[in-house]
Amino acid sequence: MTIFAVSRTTKNTGYSCLDNALISLSVKPRYSNVLARWRLLGLHTIDTGKQSHVTLGIKKTFPERGEMFKDLRVGLVTLSAVMLAVASSAQSPKATLSIQLDKPLHAVSPTLYGLMTEEINYSYDGGLYAEMVRNRTFYDHGWSGIPRWNLVHIGNAEATMSVDETSGPSEALPRSLLLKVEKADPEDQAGVRNEGYWGMAVRPGTTYTGSFYAKADAGDVGPVRIALIGDSTGTALASATSEPLTTGWKKYEFTLKTGSVETSSENHLSLTVGHAGKVWLSLVSLLPPTYKNRENGNRVDLMEKLAAMHPKFLRLPGGNYLEGDTIEERFDWKATVGPLVDRPTHRSPWEYQSSDGLGLLEFLEWTEDLQIQPVLAVYAGYSLKGAHVPPGPGLTPYVEDALDEIEFLTGDAASTKWGAIRAKLGHPAPFPLKYVEIGNEDTFDHSGSYEGRYAQFYKAIKTRYPQLQLIATMPLKQMKPDVVDDHYYERSDEFFDLVKHYDNVDRNGPKIFVGEWATREGGPTTNFGAALGDAAWMTSMERNSDLIVMAAYAPLFVNVNPGGMQWESDLIGYDALSSYGAPSYYAQSMFAAYLGTEVPASTLQGGSHRFFYSVTRDATKGKVYLKLVNANSTPQPLEINLGGAGKVGASGILVTLGAADPAETNTISTPTRIVPVKTTLKDVGSTFSHTVPGYSVQVLEISAQ
Ligand code: AHR
Repeated sequence: MTIFAVSRTTKNTGYSCLDNALISLSVKPRYSNVLARWRLLGLHTIDTGKQSHVTLGIKKTFPERGEMFKDLRVGLVTLSAVMLAVASSAQSPKATLSIQLDKPLHAVSPTLYGLMTEEINYSYDGGLYAEMVRNRTFYDHGWSGIPRWNLVHIGNAEATMSVDETSGPSEALPRSLLLKVEKADPEDQAGVRNEGYWGMAVRPGTTYTGSFYAKADAGDVGPVRIALIGDSTGTALASATSEPLTTGWKKYEFTLKTGSVETSSENHLSLTVGHAGKVWLSLVSLLPPTYKNRENGNRVDLMEKLAAMHPKFLRLPGGNYLEGDTIEERFDWKATVGPLVDRPTHRSPWEYQSSDGLGLLEFLEWTEDLQIQPVLAVYAGYSLKGAHVPPGPGLTPYVEDALDEIEFLTGDAASTKWGAIRAKLGHPAPFPLKYVEIGNEDTFDHSGSYEGRYAQFYKAIKTRYPQLQLIATMPLKQMKPDVVDDHYYERSDEFFDLVKHYDNVDRNGPKIFVGEWATREGGPTTNFGAALGDAAWMTSMERNSDLIVMAAYAPLFVNVNPGGMQWESDLIGYDALSSYGAPSYYAQSMFAAYLGTEVPASTLQGGSHRFFYSVTRDATKGKVYLKLVNANSTPQPLEINLGGAGKVGASGILVTLGAADPAETNTISTPTRIVPVKTTLKDVGSTFSHTVPGYSVQVLEISAQ
């Protein structure tokens, strides 16, 4: 038995490792809630103003000292929760969990966990989509000036800028920035700078790929100098020079390569010229290396975070983003495909302009990069401010548009019009498609037109694509849809009450897609209390995964900078430089990573009312996965009986996500305060005891043939 003593002389994490001594932790003030809880449990604590100490008589074994160091530093609060489980004499009444492995109830939906995002909270522009230039086509709205753009004049150079509505590089982009340079020379240049999405992340030894469209009023304006500049130093971190400008619109490409610069997001992009004259600019773009090196692709860190959620599908393109505030502002997919210069951009219902750089094909490439299925939502004739297209001939163009869209995804490149267009855009292979959703949240259409609109889309799509499963966005009275999309945005207590909801739903009705759900506690990203609500809800979705074919948390992303968030309580937060997952993110990743193929019969007797579980099994792999969610502050002792198993492994994998208090959370500056900790659980067998710590989510993987 090893017992730790933590020295009081060091600031936060100093300690020595002694045998047969008491534990004494020195705790930073931000952990005062932990101390308060320990005090309540009658443990001895000393407060010294700046710093507090607690002495605990806990015996705990760690395999070796190195691991102990790591655990204590990265997971003090988690560790304290584990300790509490051991230290506290208060615990919930013992429960018995009996599992009959030889009695499978039903299969687990192979597509249970997936993703849902839309252009909200700067999810794509300023988020997943790697573009660094903000307002690259000058269509953003602002109070004054040209949003995100400012003038640059070096030395005595002089210039003005304005938006020119009369000239642009394409029919889709008839507008540009007009720079009038009164005075400039190759030394004292004049031009414009872009601030990016709350800065521009610049890293050492990195190649950035850029381009812009431009024209000049005369042939002597010369080239454009492009540079990434440090905000505070004014130093160029990387620069390039374009070809000399011509009097006609032309695309100019460049690369910026950094050397040994400091990693920082406090940078901007400047474009300057060294000669007087008029210059028009449009579609100024700069991208860092992207996930899987996709041209016009996605941010690497965010894609890696999505991959780690083990998703099976992506519901695209929304959400309210599909509908738009008005019919004109719907996600008009045809305006989002093809060269960027042919995309007019559009206003998202979340109050900002979407660049549409992440258009329909980019959504599909994203699914391809994660090897997941697209779940395509088609615009169905209702927009958020109430406009709707009644069923009948007026709706036919929208139905045709949806048929074209399905053909764009799935059509043969040689024999279909939209399949051929997809091939021309660089993707000859069709995408797999099983589910198509007709609209979004049409329960808000108080005209009652959805029954008829759904029926019209259903008939047309099923006639051409009988294999597709069509999702309705609300329950219908006149026909049975294949699937109904249910949305839940709840507090954790509400989810604790809802966990039995689907147990009694009619199995002869439509299948269920929980297309949006989240426990809304904490912001910008959710806290540990929300993770408890989420985990409880996921136990219910796993148990009912004969009915629930898919489920997706929403919203997934938030840019945590001031003004970045329109919807509080999101899963993954980021700024220009880095990103982090909320505790809920880790709960979901754990649930999806350890998921079997069938649900065996099980019963729980005793235990607290805020203790939840699910059991799935993968007979081929010989694994049983237990999800154990203790939303109480006190530990939950369990006896676990694995009936009907041949041979049960003597140890299991135990993954714990825990916190001392539901209000604990991760932030952009403390991104890993609450993360899963993986350990080995010993003394497992066909009957064994296990105590689930207070405020914790655990996944237990057991080998059982
Ligand atoms: O996820 C945020 C919004 O919530 C979605 O856009 C909408 O479908 C729901 O109301």
